Amino acid sequence: MRIVITGHKGQLGRSLWALLADHDLLGIDIPEHDISRPEITDVIADFRPDLVLHPAAYTDVDGCARNPDLAYKVNVLGTQFVALGARKAGAPILYVSTNEVFRGDQEEPYREWDETGPVNPYGRSKLAGERVIRALTSQFYIVRTAWVFAPGGNNFVTKIIAAADRHGSLRVVDDEFGNPTYAPDLAEAIVNLIQTERFGIYHFTNEGACSRYEYASEILRLAGRENVSVVPIPGSEWKRLSTPPKHAILGNYAGTALGITLRPWRDALRAYFVVTGA
Ligand SMILES: NC(=O)c1ccc[n+]([C@@H]2O[C@H](COP(=O)([O-])OP(=O)(O)OC[C@H]3O[C@@H](n4cnc5c(N)ncnc54)[C@H](OP(=O)(O)O)[C@@H]3O)[C@@H](O)[C@H]2O)c1
Repeated sequence: MRIVITGHKGQLGRSLWALLADHDLLGIDIPEHDISRPEITDVIADFRPDLVLHPAAYTDVDGCARNPDLAYKVNVLGTQFVALGARKAGAPILYVSTNEVFRGDQEEPYREWDETGPVNPYGRSKLAGERVIRALTSQFYIVRTAWVFAPGGNNFVTKIIAAADRHGSLRVVDDEFGNPTYAPDLAEAIVNLIQTERFGIYHFTNEGACSRYEYASEILRLAGRENVSVVPIPGSEWKRLSTPPKHAILGNYAGTALGITLRPWRDALRAYFVVTGA
């Protein structure tokens, strides 16, 4: 197959690239290719792809709050240009979205068809990206995920370890909940999904959910830093530019119906530490 992968230098993009390496691939990432430039539509169409995988995004959540124009430029306009390229080629598109499209005020996990209600510019731009996809093609997959980590990535795992080594003790928010997700597991689920040709909305995360505090404690345990003290604090005491949804836990209903599930997040985190040797 001929497959375009946007954001192929990012956490998920690298995992998708590795899994699909025996196909004809075109990678789209900055600085060579900027999805927010209109010419990207023809770059994609001219490759004549059978499928377009689109994880590229401006993923710095606080950066999106500081600069919402850039969030909309990359995550919405960029998605429009990519989707138009897929449409011109007659290829299906898979757009990667986020748990931050939800308000985060419901106790139970969000189902794929639950009402959205983003509370920050990143979530609003990613939801607008979903709408662009749905408006421009009927051949789409929208895969929402959360709290992605991968070897070599800039993510919560690397930030917690770096902060522990710098400060010796940590304060971590205990009233924000989500699903940690290992990029190689997510990529495998995506590769299984595209083989089904069952278009629609999916929630793929590693199984289970936790608070940031529980997540940080497990990271430090597996990283051999049990002696680092972790103090749970409410989100109101952790000043940041963006407001995260408090309880945006994703439930994988549609994928489970197709037999596509991901292992528990603690097992995935253990696999990460085996791979990184950390
Ligand atoms: N990371 C998470 O916790 C998380 C959670 C939920 C959903 N998601 C979604 O999952 C997807 C993949 O996330 P990820 O963690 O793999 O992200 P990532 O590591 O930040 O990868 C995104 C890639 O896209 C590139 N990019 C940014 N702007 C671009 C542009 N204008 N044109 C072309 N490429 C551009 C990035 O380059 P630079 O690195 O140079 O900016 C990066 O290589 C994203 O759509 C994200 O919204 C992520």
